[in-house]
Amino acid sequence: MLEQLQELHVQALDELSRISEPDELELWRVRYLGRKSGVTQVLRSLATLPLEERRKVGARANEVKSALESRLIEKKRIVEEVHLISALEQKRLDVTLPGRPVSTGRSHPITQTLGEICDIFKSMGFQVFEGPDVEWDYYNFEALNIPRYHPARDMFATLWIDSEMEGRLLRTHTSPMQIRIMEKTRPPIRVIIPGRVYRYEATDATHESMFYQVEGLAVDENITLADLKGTLFEFCRRLLGQERRVRFRCDYFPFVEPGVEVAIDCLACNGGGCRLCGYTGWIEILGAGMVHPDVLRKLDIDPEVHSGFAFGLGVERIPMLRYGIEDIRLFYSNDLRFLKQF
Ligand code: PHE
Repeated sequence: MLEQLQELHVQALDELSRISEPDELELWRVRYLGRKSGVTQVLRSLATLPLEERRKVGARANEVKSALESRLIEKKRIVEEVHLISALEQKRLDVTLPGRPVSTGRSHPITQTLGEICDIFKSMGFQVFEGPDVEWDYYNFEALNIPRYHPARDMFATLWIDSEMEGRLLRTHTSPMQIRIMEKTRPPIRVIIPGRVYRYEATDATHESMFYQVEGLAVDENITLADLKGTLFEFCRRLLGQERRVRFRCDYFPFVEPGVEVAIDCLACNGGGCRLCGYTGWIEILGAGMVHPDVLRKLDIDPEVHSGFAFGLGVERIPMLRYGIEDIRLFYSNDLRFLKQF
């Protein structure tokens, strides 16, 4: 039996020396130290041996067992270390490489401009509302004093919605929201409505088929053209500079009387005349006017008691003027080289 143990010891150590994989180590442990291993069997059979021999064999078997156990622990450490080193070498990280830049998003220049515009009007007591892009003929035209066959419909090249229901269109301006607000609310009213509008037109550097407007509406007792002028004058200067000059001239829109167009002196030439302003020195940014009595009457607001002003502002104009952007189409062509500048 002592010989058997000796042989086992030698064989086990020989096999262990050739192992290089962690999985094989476990198999080796089961084979030489497990419940069915030679050493365990020897230890189990001790009871059948005469006392003298039992002592010797028992002592030797325990020696072999603990020797194998400690060699296993040693070997395990070595195998794991070798494995770790080769793993580290394969997945080598070059910590001296420069990091990859993280690109952060930003809001669109039009979104930024809308935010500024809304902030200015909010500070003057206006509430912000939004309305539907798909409108009814009634709100876009009829209720705004533009009945069917009215020549003013030619001012708005309209995109009609092709569906079972007649009279639906993509709103050509934000003015239909004047009607929706006055239907639902009684004066005093002070609101602005930012939103997209659509025109059926060939696009070029100054025309897009989709663009933004901000509508404004104020209705109360004793509202006069002076209120319109004061509000828009203040707005233009807060948005585009305290030194701006603001010009009001007569214009025509069927839903206001009188109607005005509002222009500011050109930012590029300060009114001297340049390519940007078509050598006029002025840039038109708003259509406005006093709400037409017929419009008020249709909404059960008595024009003898209440009056109001309304305006519509073209939004793209503003960043185009400020940053010298010469083509409106850049805003909606999703070119990151352009958008990243803002
Ligand atoms: N809705 C007009 C346009 O798009 C602008 C406007 C709004 C004019 C309100 C007067 C009053 O041209």
